[in-house]
Amino acid sequence: MIRLNGVQKSFGSEQLLKNITFSVEPGERISLLGPGGCGKTTILKIILGLLPPDAGSVELMGKDMVLMSSDTERRQVLRKVGMAFQQGALFDFMTVRENLFFAMEHMTDFSVQEMDRRVKDLLQAVKIGRTEHQFPFELSGGMQRRVGIVRALATDPVVAFFDEPTAGLDPVTSTIILNMIRDLAGKTSEKAMLVSTSNVEIAIRFADRVVIVHEGRVVADGPWRELLVSGPDWVKHFLSVRLIGLDEEYARELDLPGRFIDRYWHQGGTAP
Ligand SMILES: Nc1ncnc2c1ncn2[C@@H]1O[C@H](COP(=O)(O)OP(=O)(O)O)[C@@H](O)[C@H]1O
Ligand SMILES: [Mg+2]
Repeated sequence: MIRLNGVQKSFGSEQLLKNITFSVEPGERISLLGPGGCGKTTILKIILGLLPPDAGSVELMGKDMVLMSSDTERRQVLRKVGMAFQQGALFDFMTVRENLFFAMEHMTDFSVQEMDRRVKDLLQAVKIGRTEHQFPFELSGGMQRRVGIVRALATDPVVAFFDEPTAGLDPVTSTIILNMIRDLAGKTSEKAMLVSTSNVEIAIRFADRVVIVHEGRVVADGPWRELLVSGPDWVKHFLSVRLIGLDEEYARELDLPGRFIDRYWHQGGTAP
């Protein structure tokens, strides 16, 4: 579904991406995790063919996004993709309903009835059914974010990207929104989904598999519970310092490994 191999990208004299290699299978869910500024948004733009890499190959749904010659062809691929970027990018002069219709009219062959049904169902699923005829500026940040997520999924994409879907939101709203993405995706057909985030809790709540980027490279790729106890040192440190201060009850809710909880909550261990 997504395949990156040896992707490199520099801005000026700064090499941001040195070697980014990972792939995502159909129906798979992954979290792309790394500190702010490590290049997550850049990676997403490269996958979508919006930014050319300096080296390496990128495939999206079997299409080579680097060698792709025409914008028409790229648009054809992107019709099957859902994306919610951090900057919501809703049209301010359109209502919520019009924003969602706009996306579906351009990207699908749905009938008006089908579009109407999807708008109502999806808005209700994220608990903002009554915003249908409101304008984005009338909504709170969290509500706008939900509309962005609905828009990414309204077109019934084969693969969906969510870039920092919870950045700037309080922890409770973040959890709600994350659960909504999971539920919505589960309801519809089998989609590949990628959430990019710098927040460890968000990443591990969203997917079992995390791909961690640091200093331009993928430093870990696998089930986070395994990485947490037996990953490379930098990875163990990055994951654990953000988890071991949590309440034990919450740590259990996150389903952190038992021996990890024992070591850091009961035996007084400090971050590796
Ligand atoms: N078009 C660009 N021109 C110059 N620098 C850029 C550009 N896009 C991103 N950068 C730089 O690359 C770094 C990483 O960006 P980004 O991909 O947004 O990271 P992340 O999403 O992980 O926070 C930032 O320091 C940013 O300034
Ligand atoms: Mg970013």
